[in-house]
Amino acid sequence: MFKILKSEMIVPNMHLLTVEAPAVARHMQPGQFVILRAEDDGERVPLSISDWDAENGTITLIFMNVGSTTNILASLRPGQSIPTVAGPLGIPTEIDKYGTVLCLGGCYGIGSIFPIARALKEKGNRVITAIEARSSFLFYWEKKLKEVSDNLIHITRDGTKGHRGHVVKLPEILQSSGESIDRIIINGCTFLLKRGSDASRPLGIKTIVSLNPIMIDGTGMCGVCRVTVGSATKFACVDGPDFDGHQVDWEELLQRRKTYMEEESVPLRTSRCEEHIHKSQG
Ligand SMILES: Cc1cc2nc3c(=O)[nH]c(=O)nc-3n(C[C@H](O)[C@H](O)[C@H](O)COP(=O)(O)OP(=O)(O)OC[C@H]3O[C@@H](n4cnc5c(N)ncnc54)[C@H](O)[C@@H]3O)c2cc1C
Ligand code: FES
Repeated sequence: MFKILKSEMIVPNMHLLTVEAPAVARHMQPGQFVILRAEDDGERVPLSISDWDAENGTITLIFMNVGSTTNILASLRPGQSIPTVAGPLGIPTEIDKYGTVLCLGGCYGIGSIFPIARALKEKGNRVITAIEARSSFLFYWEKKLKEVSDNLIHITRDGTKGHRGHVVKLPEILQSSGESIDRIIINGCTFLLKRGSDASRPLGIKTIVSLNPIMIDGTGMCGVCRVTVGSATKFACVDGPDFDGHQVDWEELLQRRKTYMEEESVPLRTSRCEEHIHKSQG
């Protein structure tokens, strides 16, 4: 069993969970993820690692409450335990000395881009971190990100902080900041990954995205995480999750992510989540 040490909603609908998982924390590297179960008969869900402490044996996850499992995870309190934390999984993000790297994060990716930015900074890169959200009240970890970045850029759709608009404005944003970028790394929802890649393509800057297709086993056995990159078929769990964003077949990925939409809505239409919350609150 893996004990919950910290559980909090950091901004509306976005939760942070710190879990005791010494073996996972010992081997974790930036860009990797875990697969966990919230209860014994629960489904397996992949979550990226936003931070870890190898010495104290803890990992920190940041997730958006979007459905039945994330709803149960959000209801867990310190002292409670979850039955499965499998990892670290996936190939770590390639960390090298590239020059100036733009780390772009939105949604849960604001958290998972943090260890990547930290590692790139430690490697001697100039790190520009850009975070995007609908509105400024949805930003979190700004202080942590500032500590590992040479420049922190904000993009909000309503213009409440930083640049107004979306990541599609990336070329203008980079031009106005005067930064010349050698590599872009994007973490977050599929639309951010796609739009960021579309925006960087004309600039000719290598763009790495952390893909989030549906995953089950996370070990290359079930095939559910199949993606097409260039002309090759890849399994995101073992060949990724990082891929060249200019090579990904985005339409196929977006389509495949909807495969189980009908089934995913069942627990929310029944009272299963609510029952769990009542049970866990005694
Ligand atoms: C490598 C990887 C890393 C991820 N990291 C994070 C993270 O750090 N934080 C975060 O909030 N989310 C992350 N996700 C997405 C997260 O796994 C889903 O939001 C979660 O599984 C939803 O489960 P649910 O039961 O709450 O929602 P559901 O109602 O079951 O599903 C809601 C939506 O989530 C997606 N989803 C559902 N099941 C899975 C699954 N087994 N694998 C992948 N996607 C699924 C589907 O698109 C679905 O439409 C990551 C996904 C991958 C593949
Ligand atoms: S999750 Fe099963 S092969 Fe990748």
